[in-house]
Amino acid sequence: MYTPSWTAACALALSTLASAQTPPGSSPSASQNLAVSYNGTQVTPNVLLPQPLVATQPSVTYSSALNGTYMLALLDLSISASSYNASGPKAPGLEPCRTTRLHWLQGNVTRASNGSLVAGSAPIAMYAGPMPPLNDIPHTYTFYLLRQPANFTLPAWDAGRDLLNASASARMNFSIQAIANQVGAPVAANYMRVQNAKNNATGTASNGTCPSNSTTGNAGTPAPYTGVAATMGANAALVLVAVLAFALL
Ligand SMILES: *[C@@H]1O[C@H](CO)[C@@H](O)[C@H](O)[C@H]1NC(C)=O
Ligand SMILES: *[C@@H]1O[C@H](CO)[C@@H](O)[C@H](O)[C@H]1NC(C)=O
Ligand SMILES: *[C@@H]1O[C@H](CO)[C@@H](O)[C@H](O)[C@H]1NC(C)=O
Ligand SMILES: *[C@@H]1O[C@H](CO)[C@@H](O)[C@H](O)[C@H]1NC(C)=O
Ligand SMILES: *[C@@H]1O[C@H](CO)[C@@H](O)[C@H](O)[C@H]1NC(C)=O
Ligand SMILES: *[C@@H]1O[C@H](CO)[C@@H](O)[C@H](O)[C@H]1NC(C)=O
Ligand SMILES: *[C@@H]1O[C@H](CO)[C@@H](O)[C@H](O)[C@H]1NC(C)=O
Ligand SMILES: *[C@@H]1O[C@H](CO)[C@@H](O)[C@H](O)[C@H]1NC(C)=O
Ligand SMILES: *[C@@H]1O[C@H](CO)[C@@H](O)[C@H](O)[C@H]1NC(C)=O
Ligand SMILES: *[C@@H]1O[C@H](CO)[C@@H](O)[C@H](O)[C@H]1NC(C)=O
Ligand SMILES: *[C@@H]1O[C@H](CO)[C@@H](O)[C@H](O)[C@H]1NC(C)=O
Repeated sequence: MYTPSWTAACALALSTLASAQTPPGSSPSASQNLAVSYNGTQVTPNVLLPQPLVATQPSVTYSSALNGTYMLALLDLSISASSYNASGPKAPGLEPCRTTRLHWLQGNVTRASNGSLVAGSAPIAMYAGPMPPLNDIPHTYTFYLLRQPANFTLPAWDAGRDLLNASASARMNFSIQAIANQVGAPVAANYMRVQNAKNNATGTASNGTCPSNSTTGNAGTPAPYTGVAATMGANAALVLVAVLAFALL
């Protein structure tokens, strides 16, 4: 179901089509493409990538000039809301009864002259490779590039929480919208789907297990689920990336 050559050919074939760089129905949205590359395989919006390929941090480039300092985030938008056992409203996920989990948050990002986005400090949340549960639908993971104003601080809910560790429970229910409310809509984005590597199930996606309001809260207004065969698209960003530009801890 996956070949790198097919992915590359598809990206080239569709390169002139303008398409959304965030999943339909999700918020915030972005129309500019963030070029994300895993070991030479470029992410194109909604592409289904194998779990082992995305286990380690990708390289990221942006094709246009950037002015100043930015933040890079990666969120899983398909966390079954009932797997997060806490009461209160939860950041809406992409499918019904799903919420979010933070997979990567890197601040102090600047663009090198060759287009690479380079980290100027340790990450706030180190990269955590996608780990969708066995027998679940493919999860949708969205990359966001956001401005980082000089006086930026994390939203009150996240400030002071320990987000660094890849397995931190504080990474659940992460609201990228709350950050966009502070710094503006994402400059660029991209998204991919990943299914558990041991999963060979195909067919119709199911909803997340819906929490009852009294115990685990409501996941928010569900966005329409477009199915696993949603249209693939890519825009004109064709920068190929060869080098891992981000500093790791
Ligand atoms: C990365 O690419 C190299 C060369 O094609 C390959 O040997 C290696 O297995 C790949 N690693 C992953 C994690 O896909
Ligand atoms: C970059 O930002 C500075 C400070 O806000 C501004 O003066 C300058 O015009 C900006 N340059 C570009 C190319 O946007
Ligand atoms: C959620 O947590 C509460 C309190 O710790 C516990 O009683 C309840 O069984 C948990 N529910 C689930 C679905 O894990
Ligand atoms: C989820 O995060 C929001 C802040 O973005 C917070 O107000 C809400 O209480 C959190 N929900 C849960 C269940 O922790
Ligand atoms: C940017 O780097 C400074 C200095 O290392 C650090 O204190 C600050 O938390 C970083 N900001 C972000 C958003 O990562
Ligand atoms: C792009 O520039 C950065 C910063 O100078 C450098 O670390 C990186 O190796 C360069 N990447 C390529 C593909 O030349
Ligand atoms: C940052 O500065 C801007 C412009 O002065 C201001 O509107 C905003 O409220 C400030 N944000 C914080 C978190 O202090
Ligand atoms: C992350 O947290 C887990 C569980 O608390 C711990 O076992 C692990 O060592 C931590 N990893 C890092 C890099 O701190
Ligand atoms: C799916 O996986 C199961 C268990 O690993 C195996 O028995 C089955 O043959 C697989 N089906 C397909 C179509 O690969
Ligand atoms: C998913 O949930 C929505 C909203 O509750 C419902 O309309 C839809 O029929 C459900 N889909 C499936 C496949 O269960
Ligand atoms: C759960 O909460 C939502 C919104 O707050 C409401 O529309 C829905 O009717 C509630 N469901 C139940 C079973 O109480």
